[in-house]
Amino acid sequence: MNIHNVLFIVTLILQYKSYCSGLCRTTNDHKNHTCSGIRFNQIVLSLSTRLELLREKIYNCQETEIKEGILSYPKLQNLTISCGTINNIHKNAFLNFNNLQELNLSNNSLSTFLPNVFGSLGYLQTLNISQNNFKELTQFTFSGLNNLKKLIISNNKLTDFHPKVFDQIRNVQKMCLDHNEIDFLPVRLFTKLRKLQHLDLSNNYIESFGEVFVLAYNLRYLNLSFNVIKDIPLRAFQTTQLEILDLSNNKLEVIYEDGLQLKTLKELYLQINQIRLFEVGGLNMDSIPLQLLNVENNRLVFLEDDFVKTAKNLQTFKAIRNPWDCDCWYKMEAIRKQFLKSVLFHDDDEPLCVVGVIKDCKIGKPNLEYYYNIYSQQQNGQN
Ligand SMILES: *[C@@H]1O[C@H](CO)[C@@H](O)[C@H](O)[C@H]1NC(C)=O
Ligand SMILES: *[C@@H]1O[C@H](CO)[C@@H](O)[C@H](O)[C@H]1NC(C)=O
Ligand SMILES: *[C@@H]1O[C@H](CO)[C@@H](O)[C@H](O)[C@H]1NC(C)=O
Ligand SMILES: *[C@@H]1O[C@H](CO)[C@@H](O)[C@H](O)[C@H]1NC(C)=O
Ligand SMILES: *[C@@H]1O[C@H](CO)[C@@H](O)[C@H](O)[C@H]1NC(C)=O
Ligand SMILES: *[C@@H]1O[C@H](CO)[C@@H](O)[C@H](O)[C@H]1NC(C)=O
Repeated sequence: MNIHNVLFIVTLILQYKSYCSGLCRTTNDHKNHTCSGIRFNQIVLSLSTRLELLREKIYNCQETEIKEGILSYPKLQNLTISCGTINNIHKNAFLNFNNLQELNLSNNSLSTFLPNVFGSLGYLQTLNISQNNFKELTQFTFSGLNNLKKLIISNNKLTDFHPKVFDQIRNVQKMCLDHNEIDFLPVRLFTKLRKLQHLDLSNNYIESFGEVFVLAYNLRYLNLSFNVIKDIPLRAFQTTQLEILDLSNNKLEVIYEDGLQLKTLKELYLQINQIRLFEVGGLNMDSIPLQLLNVENNRLVFLEDDFVKTAKNLQTFKAIRNPWDCDCWYKMEAIRKQFLKSVLFHDDDEPLCVVGVIKDCKIGKPNLEYYYNIYSQQQNGQN
């Protein structure tokens, strides 16, 4: 071998090394490794690093498949493979990842998983498959994920669930199903999820939900905003511990106390619906915990005195863009000083209530049309 050949090889090695280190980074402690823009088989790591590695992130890898046996890092805890292109995962792809705690496969082109593909991931706590192409989830998709706490499936095209698809992940506490195309929830979908606390179903096409939440005993946060819900079924949330309920941007018209869980509810978002009646005053509770109520952009003319009197913890009441009767409003204000004037008036101090002919807020349902007419005239006048 002459000197020219040696130099040539040395140059090649140097170029290769800078090529690799430009696209992959390993931290000095050998715990983190991040790659972008290279194929799986171009990832070069020494054995000692592979044995120590805890976190691997691979972006933009141009692969379509996660094959069996790629990346063998026995201690790996957190793995991200987010390439935009992956559409296939071998059934044994994760066989060697027994210590994995978090698997992030978001932003790929996945539409299906083989049954039991996660069967060896008994320690996994977080699975993120958002931004893929999932339309349906079949029964054994999540088998083996006995310790899963968070499941993120946002931004897919989900419409179909096997009714038992979540039965395997009984320890799940947080689930995000937002930004999908869900129009139907099988009634038993969440019934085994007794530890579920946080559920996001916003931005779907849900029209009704019947008894879907009846066994969700620990549910504290539920987001159903941006759906097409027309009514809240009676006692729908009675067995939950709901503290935050977001039903904004739906098609609700009437709210009854039997539909809400007022013993625990702290924040209730109802803005941008078509709510005419908010009938929750029959409760006779000394104090309900509600701290925040947003009813902006509805068709409310009055609230019942009983509600105003009992909602002692209410600190934030957002109420603009409703055809409030002025008498009713001033009465509410008199009862509850903290119903701040500022929420009723625009910046230019233009009152947003309707001066009615009925005195002392003795308004009945047949009177409502009167307010809607005046209110729409006022609004047309403004435009
Ligand atoms: C490895 O990544 C984790 C989380 O991103 C970070 O907290 C930690 O500081 C990183 N380690 C080093 C040595 O940079
Ligand atoms: C998703 O992946 C594609 C391709 O790698 C990338 O261009 C895009 O920025 C990624 N999007 C997000 C939100 O990470
Ligand atoms: C690794 O995953 C665990 C479990 O999901 C999580 O608590 C932790 O924050 C993750 N670490 C990093 C650096 O992402
Ligand atoms: C899941 O991935 C999305 C990107 O698609 C990201 O915005 C989100 O923070 C991730 N969530 C978790 C818990 O990893
Ligand atoms: C998961 O990957 C996405 C990129 O696709 C990133 O935005 C998100 O922060 C990652 N989540 C975690 C917890 O690492
Ligand atoms: C509910 O989801 C919507 C849209 O995803 C979001 O803007 C809103 O902040 C969420 N509501 C709460 C109370 O977290």
